[in-house]
Amino acid sequence: MTLEQAKEKLAKYGQEHVLQYYEELTEGERQALLDQIEATDMSILEACSHREDLVKKGVITPLAAMQLSEIEANRESFTETGLAAIRAGKVGAVLLAGGMGTRLGSEDPKGMYNIGLTRDLYIFECLIRNLMDVVRQADTWIHLFVMTSDKNHESTTRFLKEKDFFGYRPEYVHFFQQEMAAAVDYQGRIYLEEKGKMATSPNGNGGWFVSMKNSGLLDVVHREGIEWLNVFAVDNVLQRIADPCFVGATIRKECAVGAKVVKKNAPDEKVGVMCLEDGRPSIVEYYELTDELMNARDENGDPAYYFGVILNYLFRVPDLERLAAGNLPLHIVEKKIPHLDGEGRPVKPEEPNGYKFENLVLDMIHQMDSCLPYEVVRNREFAPIKNKTGVDSVESARALLQENGVTL
Ligand code: UTP
Repeated sequence: MTLEQAKEKLAKYGQEHVLQYYEELTEGERQALLDQIEATDMSILEACSHREDLVKKGVITPLAAMQLSEIEANRESFTETGLAAIRAGKVGAVLLAGGMGTRLGSEDPKGMYNIGLTRDLYIFECLIRNLMDVVRQADTWIHLFVMTSDKNHESTTRFLKEKDFFGYRPEYVHFFQQEMAAAVDYQGRIYLEEKGKMATSPNGNGGWFVSMKNSGLLDVVHREGIEWLNVFAVDNVLQRIADPCFVGATIRKECAVGAKVVKKNAPDEKVGVMCLEDGRPSIVEYYELTDELMNARDENGDPAYYFGVILNYLFRVPDLERLAAGNLPLHIVEKKIPHLDGEGRPVKPEEPNGYKFENLVLDMIHQMDSCLPYEVVRNREFAPIKNKTGVDSVESARALLQENGVTL
């Protein structure tokens, strides 16, 4: 993109200030800034002016989950179906590791966090060990796709290579980077992170399939005959990945997506719950749950919105490919954004000072025709690490790992 073209694009969106230090930059920095301007989708910035419209929900009704008793009664046959699909190479896994892990407050990618007490035990290591259980059970390797972002790609790939992928076969590990989105102040003006660089943030975990496609990795998916992708978060160290029983249940129920869920531990627990929205599968976030929905009961007298999602979904690839063509809703999230002040000095804010733009994986569920909420035992499969201490923290995850027999 030429300087003239960049000026034109910025003027269209009222962002001319992005070039304010252009004259001070070296030739290389100028080119990098022009490239960044070219690659940035500025149309999303307009969403700041109608934020309320973005979060409107349709009519919410309950969606029944497959509960533990039903799973236990069918465990053997579901597992058999799942293992057959895994052995046929039809199941891949996608690790979402592009987040910033701001709440944990470590400079390194979250997966590099060492939660061991008497020995080293990294988050990535826990996840790979869990996946290896299935590799051993099925006696076959499973392709693992790892999503990183511009902010952590280098360190993530270097770390995993240094650690020999914790015993995983390198040919089965594929990295791809998610896209970045501009970060803006409350008026929708893009912040400058450096004189020659706009402030950006990873574009949310919902961009994973489009990013995977843009990086060319769908070639691997097609070549290997992968029909299902199990997407999971980096921060749940008890995560069961490519779980044969879950895979089998989703296949047998002929659903486009399976979602692992846990019983909420309190009506107001801060997890998104599975539901139907205008008759289609969906997730209602905890802050969208009205008192009426929170207290609603199903025909058995149980809470109607009782099953929280844990960011472990099994998507059918053809349905994802259909979806990739469509747009996911945009979420605008408040964030602390490091930037240059009026005098060009770097500022690291203590409080949120603007917005980032994200697509969320949970919105992909609403685009699918059918979904199987599949209950798992909370204390065996859900130990998220969001914070250092307190709820969903390093401390709580350590206790749960010990409860499950892991030496720390
Ligand atoms: P969270 O929503 O908990 O965000 O991510 P986070 O970035 O890890 O942590 P905070 O909010 O800054 O403290 C849930 C999952 O989605 C991934 C994360 O890596 C995690 O596995 N994620 C999130 C991405 O891959 N990309 C993103 O842009 C955001």
